[in-house]
Amino acid sequence: MDIKKQIVDLSKKLNQHNINYYVNDNPTISDSEYDILLNKLILLEKENPEYILKDSPTQRVGAPPLKNFETIKHSLPMLSLANAMNDEEIIHFDNQIKKKLNTQNSIEYIAEPKLDGLAVELVYKNGKFEYGSTRGNGIYGENITENLKTIKGIPLFINEKNIPSILEVRAEVFINHDDFQALNKTQLENNAEPFANARNCAAGSLRQLNSKITAQRPLRIFCYAPGLIQGKDFQSQIDFLNQLPKWGFPVNSNVQIGYGSEFLINFFKLISKKRENLPYDIDGVVFKVNSYKEQNILGSRSKSPRWAIAGKFKAQQATTKILDIFISVGRTGVLTPVAKLKPVSVGGVTVSNATLHNQDELYKKDIRIGDTVLIQRAGDVIPEVVKVILTKRLPHLKQFQIPLICPVCGCQVIRSKDEVAHRCTNIFCLAKIKGSINHYVSKNCMDIEGCGPKIIDLLLENKLIKNFSDLYFLKFNDLCKLDRMGEKSARNLLKAINDSKKTTLTKFINALGIRNVGLNAAGILDKYFNGDLESIINASQDELTQIDDIGEIMADSIINYFSIDENLQNIDKCLNSGMQFSTLKIVKNTAITGKKFVFTGTLNQFSRLQAFKKIEPFGAIISKTLNKKIDYLVVGNNPGSKFQKAQELGINIINENDFIILINDLKAIK
Ligand code: IVH
Repeated sequence: MDIKKQIVDLSKKLNQHNINYYVNDNPTISDSEYDILLNKLILLEKENPEYILKDSPTQRVGAPPLKNFETIKHSLPMLSLANAMNDEEIIHFDNQIKKKLNTQNSIEYIAEPKLDGLAVELVYKNGKFEYGSTRGNGIYGENITENLKTIKGIPLFINEKNIPSILEVRAEVFINHDDFQALNKTQLENNAEPFANARNCAAGSLRQLNSKITAQRPLRIFCYAPGLIQGKDFQSQIDFLNQLPKWGFPVNSNVQIGYGSEFLINFFKLISKKRENLPYDIDGVVFKVNSYKEQNILGSRSKSPRWAIAGKFKAQQATTKILDIFISVGRTGVLTPVAKLKPVSVGGVTVSNATLHNQDELYKKDIRIGDTVLIQRAGDVIPEVVKVILTKRLPHLKQFQIPLICPVCGCQVIRSKDEVAHRCTNIFCLAKIKGSINHYVSKNCMDIEGCGPKIIDLLLENKLIKNFSDLYFLKFNDLCKLDRMGEKSARNLLKAINDSKKTTLTKFINALGIRNVGLNAAGILDKYFNGDLESIINASQDELTQIDDIGEIMADSIINYFSIDENLQNIDKCLNSGMQFSTLKIVKNTAITGKKFVFTGTLNQFSRLQAFKKIEPFGAIISKTLNKKIDYLVVGNNPGSKFQKAQELGINIINENDFIILINDLKAIK
């Protein structure tokens, strides 16, 4: 057979196997047989690159890395869904629909599992996958085309006649439990951090600037909604879902059609039962009016359609036993009680620890070592104890008291009147020191690359450092003597430490770890005192509270921090090591000078810090709290309640694109 034909045949065969696997959920060959065919194709293509087909399965390995993601405007907004939390709310939803459609008849619904992944939009022009994006804030998303192309379930071409000239398909990208576990095993084998959960992993994978990394992740996709479609009419959601697999798009098979609220409630119960056995995460169900004509009559509210609702699951719960309670000591010296649990599976995840928060919580719930407890896990939140099953309590179990001696350093622990937390009073406590150094080197602080918790432990254990200021006086020869530290690593670490000396006062203040003073407050202090650390150190309570956004509690913390000699000595040591703060030149009198910005949701192109850096030189101020004095609310992806509040307050709301236009214009003035 000639080579070209072999390449065409193999590509077709492999593409069909991808469809069997990802779309039809019915593989006809084993993974290793697939790999043999794929390797054969890779070899042939390598020797005969002129015959590589555009839709060859080998073309899903990723493209060269991007600098950032472009912003893409969705042709139609990608709305979110209102929630129904119980049967009454489902019945209410059904009644509202009947009322709006002015009918007594039962409504035809389609019920689908609500996949817990990441929403994306795929755009096809004349059957070719043109681009794809994240949902973003519903209006604008990120262009993640290269990453999406690596997902084998997504058709790159639709090889059918009569395809719409424009076809937009909305879908959820997710990772199956098995694939996730295997991926985390590989991460551990490669000494890499395991991912917290499948959803985070899917989200992180889709937002890689290097699509070759995305190509390594076992991403899957289920398609569930139309965007803009030109050149074909669908009568109903079920028509649309039935068509999709014929075009090569994977669709979830657990979809049902039925009538009235009784059907919806039963479907919810059915899926709740099925949930544990599904190979992927879902966080509820979605009910949609099936007929597109009726959907159009019902229309949408500003953020969600009237014709659909999400039935959300309650947090997942399980019962288990408290084997022990141990105390974890944080950077600020807070002692947090943590329950060591008999490991138990909660919705597919093994849980062996749960936070018990503080002493008040322990008393309120009366949690004791040996108790049988109901625990719950909701999304990414740390598992917690809901209640004790008192009927299972054995006699003689003692109430748990947070120790008044720190388990790490043995010093006194106190609880002040106005706090729920117990704190270790020893400023030399190893837990505090470790925590404070880890904070000091972190990204929004001094950003010392390669100086992770393991290195910090090593430096402390070998007495090369006592606190963060000692980092600047490390010696190459001492570092080389450490276990697991070669000359190259030692040199890299010293270089990273040295590089970090060029910073801003904002980051340095944040790095000090003053209680209640984060990056925002640090920036406010930097600006108010014109980059003069000495003035901040000497500022009085009155002076500090005069500053907008600095309240009494924060002022107290600042004064307290700078009143401790040890802290001042550390600061001096850092400054004497050659630290340089780049001063901010504020360009006065631009459109945003003195204007106050609040951000909500995540931005596509900037972190908060980067956004802050963009407007800071023009004398703009970032605030955390929204009130009438705020000039702009910048809305990113998944905005919080601030979005609604800003509307109520009549504040100027802008999206990321408007923000970019705003700052680009400023540059022009400058
Ligand atoms: S339809 C306007 N169907 O839920 C309705 N959404 O809160 C558009 N989701 O961002 C969505 N499974 O990520 C729809 N079967 C499904 C879904 C689903 C998960 C997610 C989607 C969207 C969110 C809406």
